[in-house]
Amino acid sequence: MRNYVLCLSFSLLVCYASSANILAIFHAPSKSHHNLAVKYLRPLAERGHHITLASPHVLKNPPKNWRDVVFKDLGKDVMTDGKIMYKMAGMSSYMKEIITGTIGARFTSQFLEHPAFQDLLNLKDQFDVIIIERFMNDALLGLVHHFKAPYIWFGSMGYSRWTNDLIGNPGSPAYIPDLFLDYTSNMNLWQRFHNTFFFCFAQLHTYFSAWPQQEKLYEKYFPGAPKMKDLYYNASLVFLNTHVSIKYAVPSVPNMIEIGGYHVTPPESLPKDLKDYFDNAPNGVIYFSLGSVVQGKDMPEETRDAILRVFSNLKQKVLWKWEADVTFKVPSNVKFEKWLPQNDLLAHPNLKLFITHGGLLSTIEAVYHGVPLLTLPVFAEQLMNAAETEEYGYGLQLPFAKFDEEKFKQLLTEILNNPKYKNNVQTRSKILKDQETTPIDRAIFWTEYVIRHKGAPHLRSVTLNLKWYQYLLIDVLALAAVIVFVIYYVLKSCLSLIFNKKKNADINRHKKTN
Ligand SMILES: *[C@@H]1O[C@H](CO)[C@@H](O)[C@H](O)[C@H]1NC(C)=O
Repeated sequence: MRNYVLCLSFSLLVCYASSANILAIFHAPSKSHHNLAVKYLRPLAERGHHITLASPHVLKNPPKNWRDVVFKDLGKDVMTDGKIMYKMAGMSSYMKEIITGTIGARFTSQFLEHPAFQDLLNLKDQFDVIIIERFMNDALLGLVHHFKAPYIWFGSMGYSRWTNDLIGNPGSPAYIPDLFLDYTSNMNLWQRFHNTFFFCFAQLHTYFSAWPQQEKLYEKYFPGAPKMKDLYYNASLVFLNTHVSIKYAVPSVPNMIEIGGYHVTPPESLPKDLKDYFDNAPNGVIYFSLGSVVQGKDMPEETRDAILRVFSNLKQKVLWKWEADVTFKVPSNVKFEKWLPQNDLLAHPNLKLFITHGGLLSTIEAVYHGVPLLTLPVFAEQLMNAAETEEYGYGLQLPFAKFDEEKFKQLLTEILNNPKYKNNVQTRSKILKDQETTPIDRAIFWTEYVIRHKGAPHLRSVTLNLKWYQYLLIDVLALAAVIVFVIYYVLKSCLSLIFNKKKNADINRHKKTN
């Protein structure tokens, strides 16, 4: 018995010693961002760490060492107007870049003005690490200064100009397609020209507009903090929600950690009614969902009716995620549901096709379960994801802004009848599942690594110590030019000296002989 007590207290001690205090800030209002946060933080809480999550949502059934700081209704004004999302579909990339910067500043200022922000500042905790979701919110770096802790950026996308620059990762527009364009890394000359031009535009916009907006907020809410730039280039790690199975392979510095797919959990069996629905579909089922931000119910009516006409001529059943009451005529093979267990659905062998908006999370889930995609990208980086899906041959795309009934029908028929798409997505699925460690284990390991090594400054890329002209070797080229010029000048002077001497000697000789 005494041994037992000793053991117990020893293990408690170990547990205590290794349990850290973690602050996570996921201020983006959409439910899917909160879900991403929870999928990452819950396993950390289960390992005994204390979690404080600042977000607009409350976690149901939280683990005991969990604390929510709730920024109630943050961003609600933007998010409740569902039609905005569809309006953004037709917007030019340039406009998207500008609007994104403005929306980012708006969410950030709502965060800083929220009463919950004061609660956060008043916490007396000594945090071991701070995790911040990267979402146009640089001003929140002030919290890093406030709590004097190392920090990790949580990138909910893949490699992009949003993350490459801040951690010193090479991110040349020669092979990294921009977030807001519909290119893949395989670009022709014109596309690379456009991609590079857009990259320069976006960098200038960031530098002269988005960044100053954030800096203003930063200086207002964190008076006396060091320059925002000093904190900006001092992240310990960046987590990226990507993997080579869904994205191209690119150079990556050691503190950029890919954890794409960590949010996918092993499927559970479907509820009885859905299971029957799937089992009684001799020609299979098509699943249609535009995610949680772009809602079906806000879709223009003509488009909805055109989609329904195409569905009514299919022999497959169609399951459509629709968040409102159905007040219109529905073909017999189409079923509307307000909520569906997407992950479990995608795992069902009778699912033939997933029609999606091309959000990264949905794309990863489809690849994981080996389901081909028909993508109707609406906004943000969805066009880029859709282009990649098509390039890798596990789906086709039809941008929502260019929706056309005939084309939609044609693409559906092609994916349903050509086995190529299914085969390609299954190959990708194998790549996603064949990893040395699981993505969530990797996320846990690296989070604890940063804590153990007090920010792990040894991982910081040396490129961050260089000025831009040093990085691009412009000073070296300038020096080389000077050296060449000096050598040229010296040689020239020597030669002309010798030549002139000889000439003078000749003249003298000439004079003498005369
Ligand atoms: C940068 O991070 C390291 C830990 O990784 C920390 O020691 C240092 O103080 C930080 N610098 C600034 C300017 O915050």
